Amino acid sequence: MRTRVLSACIALILLCLSKVNGQLNSTYYDSTCPSLLSTVKAAVTAAVAKEKRMGASLVRLHFHDCFVNGCDGSVLLDDSSTITGEKTAGPNNNSLRGFDVVDTIKSKVEAVCSGVVSCADILAIAARDSVIALGGRTWTVQLGRRDSLTASLSGANSKIPAPTLNLSGLISAFTAQGLSAKDMIVLSGAHTIGQARCTTFRSHIYNETNILSSFATSLKANCPFSSGDDNLSPLDLQTPTTFDNKYYINLKSQKGLLHSDQELFNGGSADSQVTTYSNNQATFFSDFATSMVKMGNINPLTGSSGEVRTNCRKPN
Ligand code: HEM
Ligand SMILES: *[C@@H]1O[C@H](CO)[C@@H](O)[C@H](O)[C@H]1NC(C)=O
Ligand SMILES: *[C@@H]1O[C@H](CO)[C@@H](O)[C@H](O)[C@H]1NC(C)=O
Ligand SMILES: *[C@@H]1O[C@H](CO)[C@@H](O)[C@H](O)[C@H]1NC(C)=O
Ligand SMILES: *[C@@H]1O[C@H](CO)[C@@H](O)[C@H](O)[C@H]1NC(C)=O
Repeated sequence: MRTRVLSACIALILLCLSKVNGQLNSTYYDSTCPSLLSTVKAAVTAAVAKEKRMGASLVRLHFHDCFVNGCDGSVLLDDSSTITGEKTAGPNNNSLRGFDVVDTIKSKVEAVCSGVVSCADILAIAARDSVIALGGRTWTVQLGRRDSLTASLSGANSKIPAPTLNLSGLISAFTAQGLSAKDMIVLSGAHTIGQARCTTFRSHIYNETNILSSFATSLKANCPFSSGDDNLSPLDLQTPTTFDNKYYINLKSQKGLLHSDQELFNGGSADSQVTTYSNNQATFFSDFATSMVKMGNINPLTGSSGEVRTNCRKPN
């Protein structure tokens, strides 16, 4: 009897310990790398000052990292003889950018605390600092992720939502990650910054009706029917380099660039949340911060799982 009680107690303690180990916290590097946050912030601020779009590109890198086997830096791995990376996946090829900037941030971090900070955590901090650099609100970044030893090309092809999805498809892609419809709608607000290639919105402007026709017409000059695949247009036509709530205001006047954007205001269940954010930027900022932390918590490697990569492009 006594041993059974004892083993039950031990099991409970082990369960609690494993729970604590699996959790991120904001003070993870306080003693091992006290200058981490200021180092990353300075590097992100410099990169965004040089090219504002880079802020958008860094936010997207964190998203594409987290949606494939969790936030584990897998998106940063280059193809090699032993690894097939995620960079050539449909949603990423000729599209993801900022890898050089991540290398620069990582080398500055390595210079102040060598071998301590994961690439996955650097992406999470850089995404937050990018939002701030473009005028958004701050949040506390949770830390303690470790880097993967592998990547998943098939995961990148299947888990990252496509711009052709309808509202229920978008919601499913997020619930598959443990995120809610509300998270999906608010995180889509990241499309208040950055650019998209013609190939990602061509059918929306030529073949669809849930778009303001004058807006569709204005986009066609730079996105011909059968050429110019890589030509860029801003995801937020009003303020493409400012993190604000204009994305939602655009949706209300049928000026979403991607099919998937306009699905959020198309007479369906997402309409009311879009209206709320279009009327209240502070609510958008606050909900965005909450959902970014939630996204950053997707399936991290913690404890002794994975490793802290020296070079974000390859396992040690
Ligand atoms: C809801 C489903 C989503 C879909 C279907 C989607 C789709 C896309 C597409 C097609 C592009 C343009 C890519 C290209 O031109 O190659 C894009 C760009 C972008 N996405 Fe999303 N996205 C979604 C959610 C998100 C989320 C959750 C975030 C971040 C929290 C995000 C951040 C961005 C940013 C910042 C850009 C611009 C990147 C740049 O200019 O480099 N997206 N997205
Ligand atoms: C943060 O997490 C690490 C690793 O799990 C742990 O060692 C540390 O005690 C935690 N800090 C706090 C304040 O919970
Ligand atoms: C990725 O893009 C390159 C350059 O445009 C192209 O040659 C290659 O075929 C693409 N890879 C895949 C897997 O689509
Ligand atoms: C959304 O797309 C899925 C898959 O393409 C389709 O089965 C479903 O009927 C669509 N839903 C609506 C409401 O159009
Ligand atoms: C638009 O739809 C037509 C008819 O379905 C199709 O032939 C064409 O390729 C589509 N164009 C684009 C840009 O999606």
